[in-house]
Amino acid sequence: MGESVANTILVTGGAGYIGSHVCKALASIGMVPVTFDNMAAGHRWAVQWGPLVEGDLRDGAALSAAFKTYAVEAVIHCAGLTSVPESQVQPHAYYDTNVVGTLSLLAAMRQAGLKALIFSSSCATYGNPTKVPIVEGHPQQPTSPYGRSKLMAEQILADHRNAYGIESVSLRYFNAAGADPRSDVGEDRAVQTHLFPLAMQAALQGNEMVVYGTDYDTRDGTCVRDYVHVSDLAAAHVMALQKLRSGKAAHAYNLGTGEGTTVMEVLAAILRVTNKRVPRRLGQRRSGDPAELVADSTRARQELGWHPQHRHIDAMVRTAWSWELKRQLDHAPRRAV
Ligand code: UFG
Repeated sequence: MGESVANTILVTGGAGYIGSHVCKALASIGMVPVTFDNMAAGHRWAVQWGPLVEGDLRDGAALSAAFKTYAVEAVIHCAGLTSVPESQVQPHAYYDTNVVGTLSLLAAMRQAGLKALIFSSSCATYGNPTKVPIVEGHPQQPTSPYGRSKLMAEQILADHRNAYGIESVSLRYFNAAGADPRSDVGEDRAVQTHLFPLAMQAALQGNEMVVYGTDYDTRDGTCVRDYVHVSDLAAAHVMALQKLRSGKAAHAYNLGTGEGTTVMEVLAAILRVTNKRVPRRLGQRRSGDPAELVADSTRARQELGWHPQHRHIDAMVRTAWSWELKRQLDHAPRRAV
């Protein structure tokens, strides 16, 4: 501690779902991920590839201390609140963590002379698309406080680039799914709203999940999403960091496979891969859900050399399923102690 370590990257939210996969990807090429996480949604067991600093984004002194202690060279900013429905009832919390938190991080970076940041953004910044697949130049008109908070952070980053020379890349994730292929880490939230974990828990526990809306103008009436494997997302962060250092990175990249999958097709994939039927009830539309979100990720392919390795929905189901089995056996009892 304290001495200069080559390629040390501060990963905010490194104890969370995507952040922990990013830490593994960094470590796999010899970099040192330092997790900075307030542990509100993060897990100690998810921090396996470098030190953990417990701290809040809005605590500038804690960030400055972490930068100094570990001689940090760049930042990957994954920390944030991530639920669209929750953001509709708790907008203050979303702007505070996702916008004020990002401002605080940028202030600490300026003070430490750090100039490189990769930011976890979202396809939720586009809102209801007028043209699918979505390219980066598509108008950004988010329909939720969550999406607006991510868009505001993107705009703040652009202003910091112009005024202070902090270079950044915003990675607009489509629907993150799956888990580390060795089940080292995976998704584990106290309150779950995402389709993959809810469907798997329903398949395992026999409770009914609700399919939100069957009257969309899509091939089977349910929403289409572009599910992208979390390990592929993680790999893109490393590539974006390298590209940023070369001075030639674009400011935003869409990250999706370009394949749209309906809710019903996800449930069919779960049956195909696990032999378990997901008990479901056909319900009303969930407010704020666009009918179809599919990425055009040509820019990431061409400029970052990003080629998702786990493109097929079955690969996402397989890894998510292994993780869910392990999580239920392993982490759940530990949490209850
Ligand atoms: N869904 C169900 N039943 C459920 C949960 C989800 O039918 O119990 C459907 C949703 O209606 C949607 C699809 O499954 O059509 C996927 O829903 P998720 O909640 O898993 O994810 P979202 O599409 O809402 O994801 C959005 C954005 C992301 C953003 C994320 C943040 O697409 O960019 O919210 O939570 F990051």
